[in-house]
Amino acid sequence: MLDKLKISFNLNNSILQNTKMRLSCVGCGPGDPELLTIKAVDVIKNAEVVFAPTAKKDRPSIALSVVKKYLSKSAKIVSLMFPMLKDKEALKGYWKENAEQIAAAVRSGKKVVYLTVGDPSIYSTWIYIHRELTKNHRYIEIDIVPGIASMFAFAAEAKISLAEGEETLAIVPACYDMDRVRRTSNVCDTVVFLKDGRYFDNVIETLYDAGFAEDSMIAIAQDVAVQGEIMKMSTLANLQGVKGPTEKYFSIMVAKKKKRSDRK
Ligand SMILES: C[S@@+](CC[C@H](N)C(=O)[O-])C[C@H]1O[C@@H](n2cnc3c(N)ncnc32)[C@H](O)[C@@H]1O
Repeated sequence: MLDKLKISFNLNNSILQNTKMRLSCVGCGPGDPELLTIKAVDVIKNAEVVFAPTAKKDRPSIALSVVKKYLSKSAKIVSLMFPMLKDKEALKGYWKENAEQIAAAVRSGKKVVYLTVGDPSIYSTWIYIHRELTKNHRYIEIDIVPGIASMFAFAAEAKISLAEGEETLAIVPACYDMDRVRRTSNVCDTVVFLKDGRYFDNVIETLYDAGFAEDSMIAIAQDVAVQGEIMKMSTLANLQGVKGPTEKYFSIMVAKKKKRSDRK
């Protein structure tokens, strides 16, 4: 019995070794199909199965809309749902199930690509998929193609520096703990706020408490590098009390500190 198991294990192992078990994750940049790397376009053009994350069942994948024009007509597109929930326990089932679907496609020997908005290393659904695959499907070789992160596309459009000389830069999600926002902002020169423009008015109130002077520069954008983009350059004083400086999840705010002398 043990021998039979060993033979079957060796057979499965050699089948796995003889088939190319590769998966590419491609960072699709902020939204403009021209802001993709040459490598990303190359991988996308050759993809046979494409996995595209989406927050709701019938909502189109943003990453997919960016790369659509590069895809081959025969490529199979599979939407994977990642609901926008803060409860990690509730999300774990989606991560596992989505990773299993991807692993099955990889085992079929096809060229499989996972798409993600911006760069895969920052607040991306890819991070959870990667973790599941390295835990449960170690035979899959993974390539990650970096993408232009939304904050860099924003800085380029707004023509601002994010950090210079000895300045420090923080990246903070706006939709969680405001006390953390205050503490991080207090010790950094520039803070980039991602994840959810609908929280930016709370953040603006908090920046004052974090020692930002009234004339600190605040740059806000919604839908960077896509149609309908909105961009505002302002100061903390001008935004005090303003409700909804942006109304969309896909928004970025950069706050550059001028120090208040009377607060820490
Ligand atoms: C799940 S995170 C993905 C970040 C992405 N991996 C990146 O590199 O930018 C989603 C957040 O990124 C920001 N974001 C991504 N693309 C954007 C865009 N085109 N315009 C404005 N904000 C964007 C928003 O703050 C949004 O809430």
